Amino acid sequence: MQNNLFQKFITVVVGLQWGDEGKGKLLLALLEEFDAILRFNGGHNAGHSLETDGVTFIAHILPSGALSPGKECWIGGNVLVNPIQLKKEIDELESKRNQFKITNRLYIDYRAILASPFDCFIDAAEEAYKAQNGKKVGTTGRGIGPGYMYDTSRNGLRIGDIISPDFKQKCKKHFDYQRSLLINFYSGYEYIVSNEAMDTAEQEWLSAVHAIDTNWISNLTHRAYEFAGKGKKILAEGAQAYMLDRILGDYPNVTSSNTTPAALLTSLGLPHTVIKEVWGVAKPYVTKVGEGYFPSEMDEQTAEVFRKAGNEYGASTGRPRRIGHLDMPLLIEAIRATGTTKVFFTKADICPVSTMRLVTEYKRTYFSLSEIHAEDLIIEDFNGWSNWKPQEDHMKNVNLNLFFNAVESMLTTNLGPEVRIIGYGTGPDKDALVLL
Ligand code: IMP
Repeated sequence: MQNNLFQKFITVVVGLQWGDEGKGKLLLALLEEFDAILRFNGGHNAGHSLETDGVTFIAHILPSGALSPGKECWIGGNVLVNPIQLKKEIDELESKRNQFKITNRLYIDYRAILASPFDCFIDAAEEAYKAQNGKKVGTTGRGIGPGYMYDTSRNGLRIGDIISPDFKQKCKKHFDYQRSLLINFYSGYEYIVSNEAMDTAEQEWLSAVHAIDTNWISNLTHRAYEFAGKGKKILAEGAQAYMLDRILGDYPNVTSSNTTPAALLTSLGLPHTVIKEVWGVAKPYVTKVGEGYFPSEMDEQTAEVFRKAGNEYGASTGRPRRIGHLDMPLLIEAIRATGTTKVFFTKADICPVSTMRLVTEYKRTYFSLSEIHAEDLIIEDFNGWSNWKPQEDHMKNVNLNLFFNAVESMLTTNLGPEVRIIGYGTGPDKDALVLL
């Protein structure tokens, strides 16, 4: 195998806040110049809205290249694949239009984690258990925690197991264990799931696993090196975001995967030298779903105004999102940790208030985010741009520029001149964006 270690052939897109930054819009704008789009973390807790030629599709597990014929779609190791969701998305996509056929351009690394039929039950049961013993996480209920937990405890299943001769035995061992936990342990915490429900889930899971074409199962490390050798390029899409990273985020209110570009490298088995650049996505305000610290959270009345204007309801769960003011200390931390140099702000058109608030600093240093409270924030107020019509005056709005110039100047002061704002999302349409 040729040594292509020093070819920078991967561009990464990550979220810089608590997820739901609108990464899908940037991914769609960028993907034309790439040969493969890679999902490198998380599972169907994510949701990227895609739109091409009037067709809308929300990719939860499939990469954002799904609506782009001719682009290879890769699912890396480190991704949790729920086979029922995978089948559902493939069926939905192929029923939309023949041109979106994905079965001949889908590659799943054999090390990707195969979710079990009972992970979702255990996710709900764990939340019931936590509710009685402290606080729930407020998960998406998609079985993400259990999927990663059984993988790290080495009890779980991998996609490559599907083609192993002892797949049946591996399943039986894992399923018996999970069934017994549900019946004997979690039922004591008021989470009751019947044997019939488990049998039905197992049957549905089995038929979805049978639908996985073994030709999709690949060694993506090898394929990536072949790509590099041919001068091909990969766009790697992060799911969730920096503040939800399992280690770096606000534990325990985090997801169970790692979400920074470091996770991309372990997902593909490649060194850091292959990364060309990292694009980070943020909104001019912050949203969060689920429990946990949120120092810049707005009062509920203002939050509701933003929620309505920005349609801030979970793409995967429909839950209303919590809303906060843009928090520069956290944004700077996220940019630093992810190695972002290009910052893209989505939803620049969403400013439904006369005064836009910006958290510029914290009054004190901190060890963990839990120490920062509303009274520790230094806030600067800017005039809003609620009557801005992006399609009419492009990016020429004075108030908008004052706000984002202040943001960019704080980024360059803290991180150096390499970190720049390189674009804005200016409306819900796919093409409503400006790249500078
Ligand atoms: P889980 O990933 O379903 O286990 O949920 C753990 C935490 O991450 C919860 O607070 C979820 O709301 C949050 N979360 C997971 N995926 C996303 C996402 O795609 N966007 C925003 N929040 C997410």
